[in-house]
Amino acid sequence: MKILFATGNPGKLKEVKRRFEREGIEVEQLDAPYPEIQSDSLREVVEHGLKWLGQQHPGKAIMIDDSGLFIDALNGFPGVFSAYALKSMGCAGILKLLDGVENRGAIFQCCAGFVDSGGKIRTASGVVEGEIIYEERGSEGFGYDPIFKPTGHDLTFAEMPLDEKNKISHRGKAFSQLASMIK
Ligand code: IMP
Repeated sequence: MKILFATGNPGKLKEVKRRFEREGIEVEQLDAPYPEIQSDSLREVVEHGLKWLGQQHPGKAIMIDDSGLFIDALNGFPGVFSAYALKSMGCAGILKLLDGVENRGAIFQCCAGFVDSGGKIRTASGVVEGEIIYEERGSEGFGYDPIFKPTGHDLTFAEMPLDEKNKISHRGKAFSQLASMIK
């Protein structure tokens, strides 16, 4: 079985490919943009994107992922604006916003979705709790990984091997659920 993963993010592709290897499912990148509606629900963004992709590529099995970092002290920011915030201010900008802030709690959320060759849509969600540390650490992963340390772990996501991150991450959880639905 082969599934296309519509993403332009090589980091997400690597993680999802590795997760599905375990299931014996081949994942191939579909590097084609799809419309991302503005919504505070990741699931709505995913469902809308999948509907569109299903119509554009009939007969294909396609997955997508919408995720974000929600920081407690910033009332959930950057949240659904995570991609924009990363581009405009980066991890350094987030650390600056949290300068002097003691409450470092944050969560990563991911909604993973799948449209099958018949147009049926399924979604699954994953969350990981953690904290924003005080400096960037590590060179693995992507995005906000260097500043996010999951609860109960000493390493940031950017200091963990990919398989370790996949075991506990928002994306790992969401795609594990999706894999069980697909199989
Ligand atoms: P989107 O899902 O492509 O809209 O991405 C949201 C933003 O959050 C992007 O800038 C990603 O780099 C970032 N992001 C999503 N998942 C992760 C992750 O697992 N680690 C670090 N950053 C992430």
